[in-house]
Amino acid sequence: MTNIAVFASGNGTNCENIIKYFCNSNDINVNLVISNKHDAYVLKRADNYNIPNKVLTKAEINDSNVILPLLEKYDINFIVLAGFLLIIPDFLTEKFHNKIINIHPSLLPKYGGKGMYGHHVHEAVKAANETETGITIHFVNNVCDGGDIIRQFKTSLSPDDTIESIENKIHELEKKHFPQTIEEVIISKNI
Ligand code: GAR
Repeated sequence: MTNIAVFASGNGTNCENIIKYFCNSNDINVNLVISNKHDAYVLKRADNYNIPNKVLTKAEINDSNVILPLLEKYDINFIVLAGFLLIIPDFLTEKFHNKIINIHPSLLPKYGGKGMYGHHVHEAVKAANETETGITIHFVNNVCDGGDIIRQFKTSLSPDDTIESIENKIHELEKKHFPQTIEEVIISKNI
C-alpha cells in the first residue's frame, strides 16, 4: 500500500482532486494532509473526506523530530506538494529521495524559483505575452523548482487571456493530469 501525504498551503483544489481520484483505490491512499496555514481551505476539504490533517509551523516542518514521527505515524511513503509554499528541508528530500513530487503552474524552467507561485506566475506569463503556458510535475530536490521533470502539459494562450483565464486553464490541466501522473510515478517506481 502506498500512503500519500499531501502538503498544501492554500485553497486545495489539487489536494481534493487527488483525494477523490484515489478514494476507491486498493493500492494508493491519501492518509494525511499537512498545511503550514491554520486557515487554509485545504484543511476543510480534507475534513470533508475524513482525511487526517495537521497544521505545522515552518519551524516544525523543518524539525526532523516533529515531522518524521508524524509521517511514520501515518505510514507515509510518498509525499505530494500541491500548492505548498515552503521549501522542503534537506533531511526530508534525502529520506524521501524521488518520493516527493511537486506541481508548478508553468513550463519550468520558465517562471520558476523563489517567489514564483500561484498568481505571480500567471502575471509574469501574461506580462511576457507568452503564446503558451502549462504545468510541470517534477521530483523535489534541494533546489527550489529544480528537481527532475516528470511530465509537462501545455495550453495555448491568446492576447485576450486574462490572469484569471490563465489560472483557469492551468487548473484544468492540473485536474486532468496531476492525479494520474502521481499514480503513474508510484506504479512505475513500485513504491
Ligand atoms: C496550483 O496552481 C499549483 O500549481 C500552484 O499553486 C496552486 C495551488 O492551487 N503551485 C505553485 O505555485 C508552487 N510553486 P490549489 O491550492 O487550489 O491546489
